[in-house]
Amino acid sequence: MSKIHHDSPHIPVLRREVLQYLSPQLGQSYLDLTAGFGGHAAAVLGITDAPGKLTLVDRDKEAVKALRKRFAGQGVQVIHSDYLSASQALRKQGKIYDLILADLGVSSLHLDEPKRGFAFSLSGPLDMRMDTSQELSAASLVNEWDEAELADVLKRYGEEPRAAVIARAIVAKRPIATTEQLAEIIARHAGKSFKRRKVHPATKAFQAIRIAVNDELDQLRLSLPLWVDLLAPGGRLVVISFHSLEDRIVKNFFADHAGKYYTSELTALTKKPIMGAQDEIVSNPRARSAKLRAVEKIKKGKDKKGKLNVN
Ligand SMILES: C[S@@+](CC[C@H](N)C(=O)[O-])C[C@H]1O[C@@H](n2cnc3c(N)ncnc32)[C@H](O)[C@@H]1O
Repeated sequence: MSKIHHDSPHIPVLRREVLQYLSPQLGQSYLDLTAGFGGHAAAVLGITDAPGKLTLVDRDKEAVKALRKRFAGQGVQVIHSDYLSASQALRKQGKIYDLILADLGVSSLHLDEPKRGFAFSLSGPLDMRMDTSQELSAASLVNEWDEAELADVLKRYGEEPRAAVIARAIVAKRPIATTEQLAEIIARHAGKSFKRRKVHPATKAFQAIRIAVNDELDQLRLSLPLWVDLLAPGGRLVVISFHSLEDRIVKNFFADHAGKYYTSELTALTKKPIMGAQDEIVSNPRARSAKLRAVEKIKKGKDKKGKLNVN
């Protein structure tokens, strides 16, 4: 069996369910598009025992460093890239995988480390870049984008009902240097509806800015067809999302491509999204909003009479 040991700063969500829906088999190839600290990857590798057929992608340098250390000396391919560029490159190389996982969003490292500037509850510089070599940061977005663009981000990616008011307040208070300052400005203008929702008033706005900085929704929308191309016939794709905007994209893509038509390439393995069990939600609050959807690529071929069959 592979060498699997190491503590991780991130607890992988829905680990049990990922294994159930990927259903790894000995010797299978595996592409992890958001490998993070390798928790899911190690679990899958524990069953496939094929480190030479394992490709791990992450756009965060620290995650990549941790992955290289964790899987050192086993022939695992680790790619520092956003998953859209990595998927395009792997596709060009003609790579095919039996198992593909995308566990979207940020890791605990991002949320728990003040200097990464993701958390409204911790004071840090306004950053929110998963890839710190990228130019656009939360600071440039918040301080340089005009009011209409800011309002659009808050509305589109945060579904923030007071987007226009908050955008105006941000522009009036510029320059804004820290997460704490930004959270305070938002809280002062967020109205009262968040009280009913029992969340911090800056939750939606911070989510929106993070999505815009990392171009999260376009990454997902443009990558889904590539993931189907990268899947071997009979292979499985599992996607875990953490907010409704992501889940809607996955749900609609799977609905359009799974099962209904003669030309469909996918079979849905999950009718409804799979959520974390109560014990997991209690021990790992990140699991509360996780939704897992899974598909299998249809094996197309001809039966003995020469008729095209599906599966
Ligand atoms: C929820 S964590 C994944 C944790 C991982 N499954 C584990 O077991 O440790 C999400 C990871 O995906 C990375 N990520 C998010 N969006 C990405 C993208 N578009 N391209 C590449 N990596 C991305 C983040 O940097 C983060 O490390």
